[in-house]
Amino acid sequence: MVYQHVLRPALFRTGGGDPEIAHERTIGALSRLGRVRPLVAGLRRLYGGAAPRTVFGVRFPGPVGLAAGMDKNGVAVRGWPAFGFGFVEVGTVTWHAQPGNPRPRLYRLPASEAVINRMGFNNAGASALAGRLRSLGPAPVPVGISVGRSKVAEDAEADYVASVRALWPYADYFAVNVSSPNTPGLRGLQDRAALDSLLSAVVPAAEGRPVLVKIAPDLSLSAVESVLDVCHSRGVAGVIATNTTLSRAGLSGVDRSVSQPGGLSGRPLFARALEVVSFVGKQTDLPVVGVGGILSADDALRMFDAGASLVQVYTGFIYRGPGLVRRINRESRVRS
Ligand code: FNR
Repeated sequence: MVYQHVLRPALFRTGGGDPEIAHERTIGALSRLGRVRPLVAGLRRLYGGAAPRTVFGVRFPGPVGLAAGMDKNGVAVRGWPAFGFGFVEVGTVTWHAQPGNPRPRLYRLPASEAVINRMGFNNAGASALAGRLRSLGPAPVPVGISVGRSKVAEDAEADYVASVRALWPYADYFAVNVSSPNTPGLRGLQDRAALDSLLSAVVPAAEGRPVLVKIAPDLSLSAVESVLDVCHSRGVAGVIATNTTLSRAGLSGVDRSVSQPGGLSGRPLFARALEVVSFVGKQTDLPVVGVGGILSADDALRMFDAGASLVQVYTGFIYRGPGLVRRINRESRVRS
């Protein structure tokens, strides 16, 4: 309540209403908070409280993770757990540092509790992330590292592998991002032959670390099935479903006239993300991380009921704040 009525309006006005400035300031504040360990520990007691669980061999203190893209450079890995996150997925990182697409590239759609972004993997590169994670030391929760293809890369496989090798010491798991809509050609890596070839290089390079594959909600269910076949045969540890969508279905009122290109996240994505999670849950015994449009504890419980072992939030955190994570932690504990 305090978040929605006081903090959020202030945050949405920050930087003259530029969401990217609000985002940068939030990350900066979280990074500073992360340095005050007793405060993080105290807040964790307030916002945490979920039952721990072990999934793909990793022990998670809670089932709610921060989705990739929020902390691309891993600057606040020690701060996020204060708000009850049981794991943090940093990145997506690319081997080459890159500026991403020109600004503006991030749009809030409050009437729909949604966001459109076309960030384009702006990040400081895998070596910089490795240096930062080294200097921050071990985080209080597992850290997943999302890797993607550099825009300039000619050889996608070598590019992913270079990032995985550089980041290996700091990853509790790797997420292979082949589903962002904002890097031309990236989603083509979900095609059977391309994915098979990519994973045949990435999984061995991860040297025993769990490798997850993050998929797009825009794949047909038969395409999801072929992704799952490849995941099985290449020793993938789990599936993250889903990334943002190119669809504009489910937007409300004024938001229907927004014609910005990019990936849509938040409330309008929930139904499709849930459908994909449910499909993956039925098709395979691979653990599923459910993400897409979770804005309430009830949404998260529906993801768990559909077969998700863990969930992640991004847009829901923007609109509902840390209370969302606390409520999911509490409700999931009641259930477990
Ligand atoms: C994202 N997302 C994302 N995913 C990913 O794998 N790598 C990334 O770099 C990013 N970047 C990114 C930036 C922004 C601004 C947004 C809003 C989203 C997708 C994100 O992790 C998640 O899959 C979707 O946003 C759906 O979840 P929510 O936001 O509806 O909870």
